[in-house]
Amino acid sequence: MHTEVAHQQIIDWYAEHARDLPWRAEDCSPWGVLVSEVMLQQTPVTRVLDRWEEWMRRWPTPAAAAAASAAEILTVWDRLGYPRRALRLQAAAQAIVDTHDGDVPSTADQLRSLPGVGEYTAAAVACFAFDRPEVVVDTNIRRVHARLFSGDALPGATYTAAQRKLAHQVFPNPQHDDGHYACTWNIASMELGALVCTARGPACSTCPVADICAWRQAGCPPPTEEQRTRGQAWAGTDRQVRGAIMAALRGEGAQQPEALLDSLPLPSADLGQRQRCLNSLLADGLAEQKQDRISLPGLL
Ligand code: ADE
Repeated sequence: MHTEVAHQQIIDWYAEHARDLPWRAEDCSPWGVLVSEVMLQQTPVTRVLDRWEEWMRRWPTPAAAAAASAAEILTVWDRLGYPRRALRLQAAAQAIVDTHDGDVPSTADQLRSLPGVGEYTAAAVACFAFDRPEVVVDTNIRRVHARLFSGDALPGATYTAAQRKLAHQVFPNPQHDDGHYACTWNIASMELGALVCTARGPACSTCPVADICAWRQAGCPPPTEEQRTRGQAWAGTDRQVRGAIMAALRGEGAQQPEALLDSLPLPSADLGQRQRCLNSLLADGLAEQKQDRISLPGLL
């Protein structure tokens, strides 16, 4: 494996082609980085940008977010999806206030102990906010590794032990320069996966490592059945119905359950599915019912 050549070529490419995203700015706070990483899980950059700006304008510190109402948090989250993330981010803000004096902690272990912060987010915040050389692995990075080093078309749905081992093997030596280079490798390989080494239709003609790519050297074999992940279905799913209920609660305020469920613009969702989805939102604390009225939490 030509790891040193790969590091340098991809880092040089990043210096020239990186998107100018607000959470990558020199003066972005660790809190801004944490908010961005939670929002970017499962949601594309273009949809995150204005929600991140609005969140940071309202709640520029963990203390400010901890003091907000759940209803405001969910309203600003708007259509980012998976709204439990919003409540967990607020719970993380509260834990930062309670146990870290309001400052986002800097080590991956401390970050990992915050509500809703898993292996990826902890490593990403330690690295991107504090320049700590943690091995960061998201879907884009797994795809770059799969092609460049393993010769596979796609990495498959799950992060395997072999992929974790490979990510550590190809990680730049952090002693080299206090880890800054290793951190840049993380963000540069992530960006290459997002912009060039995409799942469908990779732009190999503009790729800085096309000439050392194991997948190209193997003749660009197509993905195997296990590697082909089905994109997450949306139409007709409970996620879609839950999203429509949340949108109605943000738009209309408190409502009677029958009127609320009746108003959803989803002709194919039957009453059983609507009711089940409403029950799951109530159970998740994303909506609240008092007597015969339903609203976002804390408003009744
Ligand atoms: N910059 C830092 N983290 C990122 C992410 N998860 N997605 C896109 N850009 C990022």
